[in-house]
Amino acid sequence: MASPERGMWGSRLGFIMAAAGSAVGLGNIWGFPTQVGQGGGAVFVLVYLLCVLLVCAPIFIAELILGRGSQKGPLGAFKKFAPNTKWWVVGALGVMCGVGILSFYAVIAGWTFAYIYYTAVGGLGTNAVEIAAFFDTFTANGPLSIALTFAFLFVTAACILGGVQAGIERVTKTLMPALIVLLLILAARALTLPGAAEGLEYYLKPDFSKAFDVNVLTAALGQAFFSLSLGMGALIVYGSYLRREDNLGMSALYVVLLDTFIALLAGFIIFPTGFSIEGFDPSASGPGLIFQVLPQLFASLPGGALFGAAFFVLLAMAALTSTISLLEVPVSHCIDQYQWPRKKAVLVLAVATFGLSIPSALGNGSVASLSNLPAALGGNFLGFMALAWNSYALPIGGFLISIFVGYRLGLDKAIAELTADNAWFPSPALWGFLIRYVSPAAIALIFLWPFISRYFS
Ligand code: TRP
Repeated sequence: MASPERGMWGSRLGFIMAAAGSAVGLGNIWGFPTQVGQGGGAVFVLVYLLCVLLVCAPIFIAELILGRGSQKGPLGAFKKFAPNTKWWVVGALGVMCGVGILSFYAVIAGWTFAYIYYTAVGGLGTNAVEIAAFFDTFTANGPLSIALTFAFLFVTAACILGGVQAGIERVTKTLMPALIVLLLILAARALTLPGAAEGLEYYLKPDFSKAFDVNVLTAALGQAFFSLSLGMGALIVYGSYLRREDNLGMSALYVVLLDTFIALLAGFIIFPTGFSIEGFDPSASGPGLIFQVLPQLFASLPGGALFGAAFFVLLAMAALTSTISLLEVPVSHCIDQYQWPRKKAVLVLAVATFGLSIPSALGNGSVASLSNLPAALGGNFLGFMALAWNSYALPIGGFLISIFVGYRLGLDKAIAELTADNAWFPSPALWGFLIRYVSPAAIALIFLWPFISRYFS
């Protein structure tokens, strides 16, 4: 049985809300549009959706199965289902991922804190050039970035100390609906701006005439994993708090749908607004995209400062429910494996993450491409971290999880857990087919694609 330091969701809705809170965050609103911009528009969107459907949704369910079936975090789950093997290494990779991702995520999340203030007081400038320059100067201020990162990690740690139910479930229940309403309002405004048609075309109409960049595949796959909080066992942990009588598979599908909906919605805001700005080049903008484009949108709204500040409040809150899940993975690991009290685990891990975040806070070139490794290494540590964890560590983790569930645990046991307590699921057999063959093959193919394509050209 679960130890009292662990916990349980109060209800099925509580679980959906918490998992959605983990999934919806900077990945949807900051990451997705940025990646679309760098991946060349609608083709990226298409590849992204395929990744979500064929690769990520099945693995999402697989992680929950491992968690609920074992009542353990990532490491414990592998140890329980495959004792005396090396499979626990996959769990260990996940625990490291949590700290690694959080270390750069908290930096960007810290920026949203500051932008609440700057939008509210109207300090960002009045035109596109000023707004862009403000972002560059702002992120070049190392001590400020470090202080903001610290503040964000501090708040995250404080929330986690409250325990599973009180901490995560409550924040998300009120936040998510508010976020969606505000995004819908912003999308409605963005779609009536002068550049909207051009923006929509860029976003939705694939241009197959351009040479296909193979990096788009890895970027889209990594983004899908990141956005769904997949591949590092966060959902093993959340699944371990899920009650047996709750329908695991359908809950998973709701969360995947909601997460994808919000990412797509963010694109409907960013690209119409971006293309309403003279000389806008989505591929040239890096991590600053939303910070440089959205203030333009707020300026076009009556009461824009208020809308802008509200937007960044909600974005910060969405980021918070995600950082909570990132920190919860290593925390639950230390509680399970070393019997640390929750307080000690939170404190030690928050401090370690903060240490690791300092290079990201100091060295984030706002223009360097997130998907460009050499540029990332040359002074853009944040971009390097994002690339290493999202595009490589998470998909590799996902690959191993799908192999584990499909072959080691076995489909019979997995499907028994999926349909426990007579839970309804559209087609458990189709899920089994996807997790066994399609997901791992697709990940392998995407990783090998650069070599394959070179061979044929
Ligand atoms: N999914 C979150 C986002 O889109 C980020 C995140 C939270 C995450 N927990 C995670 C990513 C676990 C990978 C693994 O902002």
